[in-house]
Amino acid sequence: MTHQVYLVDRPVSFSVDEGETLLAAGLRQHLALPFGCQSGGCGSCRVRLTAGEVEYPFAPAALSQGEIDAGYILMCLARAKSDLTIDLHQPAQIEELRPRKLPSRVMYKRMLSHDVIQLMLKLPKGDNLRYLPGQYLDILLEDGRRRSFSIANAPNAETLELHLRIAPGGRFAKWVLEEMPEKAILRLEAPLGAFYIREDSQRPIVLMAGGTGFSPAKAMLEELLPKHSARSVHLFWGGRAQEDLYMDAEVRAWAEQYPQFRYTPVLSEPSADWKGETGFVHEAVLRAYPVLVGQEMYLCGPPVMVQAGKRAFLAAGLDADHLFYDSFDYAFETWPALG
Ligand SMILES: Cc1cc2nc3c(=O)[nH]c(=O)nc-3n(C[C@H](O)[C@H](O)[C@H](O)COP(=O)(O)OP(=O)(O)OC[C@H]3O[C@@H](n4cnc5c(N)ncnc54)[C@H](O)[C@@H]3O)c2cc1C
Ligand code: FES
Repeated sequence: MTHQVYLVDRPVSFSVDEGETLLAAGLRQHLALPFGCQSGGCGSCRVRLTAGEVEYPFAPAALSQGEIDAGYILMCLARAKSDLTIDLHQPAQIEELRPRKLPSRVMYKRMLSHDVIQLMLKLPKGDNLRYLPGQYLDILLEDGRRRSFSIANAPNAETLELHLRIAPGGRFAKWVLEEMPEKAILRLEAPLGAFYIREDSQRPIVLMAGGTGFSPAKAMLEELLPKHSARSVHLFWGGRAQEDLYMDAEVRAWAEQYPQFRYTPVLSEPSADWKGETGFVHEAVLRAYPVLVGQEMYLCGPPVMVQAGKRAFLAAGLDADHLFYDSFDYAFETWPALG
């Protein structure tokens, strides 16, 4: 049986067939919907169900109990059991920022630390790729596979900056390090994802990043700090050792320059002379904010960090409508995009 899906605050609806996921149905009917892995793992397709009932083929692993209690569902898994109303909670401008494929040329690469490469890409002249700071792109490999990387700079119409961690056994990052020709052309799909600052909110922001999760946080900060002096932002950046905080000096300089910005680096395996916060980064957040009522939180980095943070922050009173995250799942868990 076919059901109808209505969107909160939009004069738009789409139909979903028996057994079809909400995501597949919406994309088939050309809606701009957020998604990533399409397999229930990343949470990018999370939306709030405000009316109706859905069912899943298996439990939606990316959702914490707090998100389920707040009415969130995963569109890539959910099937409609009735007509539905969903709240996408995304700005209208995202409709104009639909993902598209484009070439880019490598300008240069350099090591930011022992295992992080900064890759600078040049966009085709006059292309003017538009995206919201925090969004990511997919590199389209020749064998049809993809690799997702957050865009590390605020939009400037000319360049895209990426921070690539070289994971043991990681194919793409190793190729970039060892084999990529100078001025190589890389094919991209962008912009992707629902991880960007909600500008309709005035809540104070807490950003929590782990490792290269700093990349989207950097793009957000580049945009936010000069523009929004009244909105306070507190970045917690976690790594194992000091060298993992590969742009620590730049972030400390922002904390000096912008009174509304605070920075707390956190190390889980610090050297003896480290004087800052230690332990897991989400625990440092909770030491600073034992109660998170009234905050808005953005989490990005390794899946275990994102999962631990989500659980802990919702338990500490964070409103699930003000929780946003990008979980840096490995590519073997991500599938090619639909259509
Ligand atoms: C939305 C999003 C944004 C992201 N942004 C960034 C970013 O800005 N920077 C960044 O560094 N990363 C980011 N990631 C993570 C990145 O896309 C993945 O780590 C990607 O797999 C790296 O590609 P690679 O070819 O270098 O490594 P891969 O070849 O994909 O390998 C990555 C790791 O997975 C392991 N692995 C591969 N296949 C398997 C398997 N079948 N079983 C077990 N282990 C396996 C490898 O050994 C290696 O340790 C992001 C991910 C997502 C989803
Ligand atoms: S959980 Fe649905 S797209 Fe990843």
